[in-house]
Amino acid sequence: MPPRSATITVMIQAAYKAARGLVRDFGEVENLQVSKKGPADFVTAADIQAEKTLRWELNRARPNYAMLLEESGAVAGRDSDYRWIVDPLDGTLNFLHGIPHFCISIGLEQAGEMIAGVIYDPLRDELFHAEKGAGAYLNDHRIRVSSRDKMMESVIATGIPAVGRGRYDEYRAQLSLVMEQTAGIRRMGSAALDLAYVAAGRCEGFWEPALSPWDIAAGIVILREAGGYVTDFNGAAVNLDDGDILAANDRVHGPLKSLLAKAKTG
Ligand code: 2AM
Ligand code: CA
Repeated sequence: MPPRSATITVMIQAAYKAARGLVRDFGEVENLQVSKKGPADFVTAADIQAEKTLRWELNRARPNYAMLLEESGAVAGRDSDYRWIVDPLDGTLNFLHGIPHFCISIGLEQAGEMIAGVIYDPLRDELFHAEKGAGAYLNDHRIRVSSRDKMMESVIATGIPAVGRGRYDEYRAQLSLVMEQTAGIRRMGSAALDLAYVAAGRCEGFWEPALSPWDIAAGIVILREAGGYVTDFNGAAVNLDDGDILAANDRVHGPLKSLLAKAKTG
């Protein structure tokens, strides 16, 4: 493996540090399931604590960078070129229910372009990371998107938008088309890990409407560095603020895009 840059090292160390708290809190959540009040407030506190740790660590290393954090929102920086985009806990509903599938996601944007990403699944100790031009990695190993090209052999990840978000009727039409024409759909509950899984060749594609910037920022650069394509549903550049995302290996991206387009025309 080539030596890691100072920037990616900062991101990885911040993720490891925040993850320690999340893992400890996840253990508690499993105990709280049986209590009457449930673990909701506890999980909110865990989420906020993880964000505090990330904010502190990233700010300490790069005090001039701006930030966009899921819980705290936008934080201005003196250096207008660079921005951290952070989700301290992606897969919150899984975490709340004691389902062991969640992650920390940290992206770095320079002048509107994603240039580095770290997605860390602390329960599996799987660290996905990439920097623009330097390839994508799972822990120390280089990753690449899968080479499957047949839709009927493809596993496609997705996320189901809440009713009232993400053009629900269109989504339902997309879902039935993709269900019928692929090997299977996975709805795992963390958009960041879905992107990482496409990058690692575990799934051939992923789509979800109306996501937030922190769900997808890190995954975009990891997926691109793994040889994948990431666009909106029309094949145009992803707009972080619009949040419709279609990500796939280079062979499945076109066919999946056509399938999603069919849902629009009926
Ligand atoms: P979260 O776990 O941080 O809430 C699941 O479909 C994905 O959608 C998760 O990555 C989840 O992130 C994200 N998500 C949940 N609610 C959302 C919302 N209101 N807007 C955008 N993304 C959301
Ligand atoms: Ca999220």
